[in-house]
Amino acid sequence: MSELTVQVKGITKKFPGVIANDNIDFALKSGSIHGLLGENGAGKTVLMSILYGLYQPDSGRIFINDTEVEIQSPAVAIELGIGMVHQHFMLVDNLTVTENIILGREPSKAKIFIDTQKAARKIGELSKQYGLPVDPEAKVQHLSVGEQQRVEILKMLYREADILILDEPTSVLSQKEIEALFSALKTFKKQGKSIVFITHKLREALEICDEITVLRRGKVVGNVEADETNESQLTEMMVGSEFGIRNSECRFRILDFGIKQEIVLEVDGLKALDDRGLPALNGVSLEVKSHEILGIAGVQGNGQTELVQTLTGLRKPIAGEIRLNGRDIAGLSAREMIKAKIAHIPDRLSRGLIFDFTLEENAILGVHRNPPFANSPYPPLRKGGFVQNRRAITAYTKRLIKKFGIRTSDSKTIVSGLSGGNQQRMILARELSKKPKIIVAFQPTVGLDVAGIEYVHEQLVKMKNKGCAVLLISMDLDEIIMLSDRIAVMYGGEIVAIKESETTTKAELGSLMLGGYLRPT
Ligand SMILES: Nc1ncnc2c1ncn2[C@@H]1O[C@H](COP(=O)(O)OP(=O)(O)OP(=O)(O)O)[C@@H](O)[C@H]1O
Ligand SMILES: [Mg+2]
Repeated sequence: MSELTVQVKGITKKFPGVIANDNIDFALKSGSIHGLLGENGAGKTVLMSILYGLYQPDSGRIFINDTEVEIQSPAVAIELGIGMVHQHFMLVDNLTVTENIILGREPSKAKIFIDTQKAARKIGELSKQYGLPVDPEAKVQHLSVGEQQRVEILKMLYREADILILDEPTSVLSQKEIEALFSALKTFKKQGKSIVFITHKLREALEICDEITVLRRGKVVGNVEADETNESQLTEMMVGSEFGIRNSECRFRILDFGIKQEIVLEVDGLKALDDRGLPALNGVSLEVKSHEILGIAGVQGNGQTELVQTLTGLRKPIAGEIRLNGRDIAGLSAREMIKAKIAHIPDRLSRGLIFDFTLEENAILGVHRNPPFANSPYPPLRKGGFVQNRRAITAYTKRLIKKFGIRTSDSKTIVSGLSGGNQQRMILARELSKKPKIIVAFQPTVGLDVAGIEYVHEQLVKMKNKGCAVLLISMDLDEIIMLSDRIAVMYGGEIVAIKESETTTKAELGSLMLGGYLRPT
């Protein structure tokens, strides 16, 4: 019954040193959800960016309802009814939801005043209709990641897009938000809209998609109906023959009892406010030892973000203590925290990298004034100035690229030209190479493919085995259970329980996460 809406034929797109898309054929049916799978750097985002007019293909043709089109810009794409929500959101922080949505789409020139109220009403209606709750008057900077994504989706709907492209929408969402998103997607589908759904999570793809296309190294390796395939077939398509080697059971939590552990990080009665000035941390207390991964389990929005920010100098606590090897470091700036050897793997890529900088510049962020990257002692005439040692920086970056398997043609590539997963690897490379005493890792595997996730897990365990203390905050309970030696449950801005991972169960953690009812009074 369903007819073809979008057809892409023989699309090729090259970047210096890499063929991002290699003669790709792809067809999107109307009223269907089409999953796009593939490992980091496979070419998913590039292909969809071509459909959205962000890149021009080197060759190939695009048809919409059998008419050939040329999509020179996103404006043309929007005109054609194509909308895209990117891996990294493109909202303006200090504008409201409504302002963001109507940005570039203000009603005609004849009107002097933009009718924001009318727009806000329409946004409110769309938000209700599709079950995508968000306050049209709220400033974007006060929204959670999930809410920001809803704004991006509402923006497409406001522009009456019929073809919706979602680039890894679930990697930043909690389980509950994922369910809400899926139900919205089903409504879109019922209305005849077509959806491209990019994900790394096979289970999700199988659950929500009608059809799945798999890319590998820029080529289509397969196209299957979702109900005629399964996880293992998809995995095999994604990673090819290398799969057998990787799929070994993770046996990470090996504790060597001969090791003397000492307390590295001590947090005592820590309190902090959120962006709106409301209490977010209500007296957090915990300890992380050397040779230990302490996992923090919890439902998103229970203070995890604020805890990480407070520990890494991005937010000032209002009470409590943070001690690193006995030294009080509460309230230090982010730069001082780096100096104190706290590594930070942030929850969202956009916070960890400067996108218009090269890999080299990003590699030394935070340590760019230190030897060997800058000459020391500083030239006495320029107070506080420093001279960069380009050769050392290049050599260092090349080492990171190799060691962390970052797929790029050159150490001078601008970071925004890397695939999402490779950007994530860059952050890890930088942070783990600083010889930290403690690593604060917040959702470190978000947006990574199977191989990438395993790699990050291995790296964290390796750091732990070397004696590093690791604080792992993740919404993914399986990840927490697999890696942690002890598990703290965070609820309502407090640590409500700390469990040994050998003796606790998923059910116990789950109920603590939901209500924290075991909280001692
Ligand atoms: N603007 C650009 N300049 C140079 N190279 C680019 C650019 N955009 C993408 N690439 C390269 O093209 C290849 C495909 O990238 P793409 O972003 O499509 O991957 P992806 O499948 O979306 O991966 P991920 O799952 O990690 O997001 C990668 O090797 C990437 O580094
Ligand atoms: Mg991508």
